[in-house]
Amino acid sequence: MSTRVVIGAQWGDEGKGKIVDLLSDQADYVVRFQGGANAGHTLKFDDKKVVLHLIPSGIFNGNADCVIGNGVVIDPVALVEEIKGVQEMGFSLEGRFFISQTAHVILPYHKLLDQLKEKRRGGDAIGTTGRGIGPAYVSKVSRVGIRMIDLLDREILKNKIDQNLQDINFALENLYKEPTLKTEDLMAELEESIAALEPFICNTTNLLHEGINNHKNILLEGAQGTMLDVDHGTYPYVTSSSPTSGGACTGSGIPPTALDKVMGITKAYCTRVGNGPFPTELHGKVGDELRKKGHEFGATTGRPRRCGWLDLVALKYVVQLNGMNELTLTKMDVMDGFEEIKVCTKYIIDGKETDVFPLSLDDVEKVEPVYTSLPGWKNSIEGLTNWDDLPATAKSYIRFIEEYLGVKFTIISTGPKRSETILL
Ligand code: GDP
Ligand code: IMO
Ligand code: MG
Repeated sequence: MSTRVVIGAQWGDEGKGKIVDLLSDQADYVVRFQGGANAGHTLKFDDKKVVLHLIPSGIFNGNADCVIGNGVVIDPVALVEEIKGVQEMGFSLEGRFFISQTAHVILPYHKLLDQLKEKRRGGDAIGTTGRGIGPAYVSKVSRVGIRMIDLLDREILKNKIDQNLQDINFALENLYKEPTLKTEDLMAELEESIAALEPFICNTTNLLHEGINNHKNILLEGAQGTMLDVDHGTYPYVTSSSPTSGGACTGSGIPPTALDKVMGITKAYCTRVGNGPFPTELHGKVGDELRKKGHEFGATTGRPRRCGWLDLVALKYVVQLNGMNELTLTKMDVMDGFEEIKVCTKYIIDGKETDVFPLSLDDVEKVEPVYTSLPGWKNSIEGLTNWDDLPATAKSYIRFIEEYLGVKFTIISTGPKRSETILL
């Protein structure tokens, strides 16, 4: 029995989907606990490629129950579309897919406000995915949110939408100069999705507590990454949830004392999509090469991802924040062919050297990275499944990272497919 959390150790897109899919054949439950359809988790197996946004990445490998926890914000229309996609692939969700009654709903006005707010920010835009994530969490925290259970009682739903629209229409009309919205239209838009989702909505907190009591294996799937955490990331250039291991508890109802493994997923280099500081970003030829070799384009929005060398100062902070006791290294194959590979081991801020990740945005923006240069390798490692087959310089690269962080890698990923993996 184990309860393991998989957490993005960078700015998202570390390959969480691939790893959760790989590990889920040993799981009884796979649980999403935060974020929403801003996530894009790519899975490749049996010549299939799937991008999941809301459904846990455990749906294809094994028979785990897949749970969308209370901490997730759900766009019902997007979720139904995703369910249809999975069913069309021949996979059944009957009896093994569960949606928390207390997860909050993303309504069309959340998406509209997300986009309008970004437009108003102009040059300071966060570069959100436009999926309504921020405004939905604002509704939740300001206690006017609509929860999945509210969808099942049309009277309650209508009253809550009516109440919300009073403020929202005022802002649309007077601040944004946009057409206002009508409750009836929103209700009508939701009707088909409610019918499709109703059988899956339940008390997932109790379901998971029963799992813990029955010594089941639980795998929690983080979305986004620690550096996008609303408390601990590069605020305000973050998402609006807690993608850290603490968030796994509040977003699922699983207590901290039940967690035994916290796995961090990091790429062999760094990427970030959207705006905000990125200390090791590379603007020239090397950055372009990483983007091209790593196919670094967003799985949700298609935007090119910003690329840079691995940042061990940020990663050490992330390991500590989450209590990570195991790590996965993904996209190791993307480093093939580089004569030298750099890793950032220190920062210089205002002329002073430090290995502590700064918490003020101003300081993060001032970081001058100090690099250690390591030798690369010529031969392709793509698809390797044995540690012994790795070139000596690839092994040294991995050992260097482990030594800096004080945590061992248990999985090395050498390609996008489930099978392209070295298990240690
Ligand atoms: P997630 O959001 O953390 O699940 O990651 P994404 O799916 O957004 O982005 C990761 C991308 O890298 C996807 O296109 C994966 O198919 C791909 N990928 C994952 N692991 C590897 C790997 O080891 N090597 C290569 N070349 N691609 C990988
Ligand atoms: P996965 O789970 C990478 C980024 C956006 C933006 C910021 C806020 O696939 O790793 P939001 O729409 O959440 O309000 O946008 O967060 N972002 C991601 N970046 N991977 C993701 O998810 C992301 N989800 C949000 O680009 O900078
Ligand atoms: Mg992604």
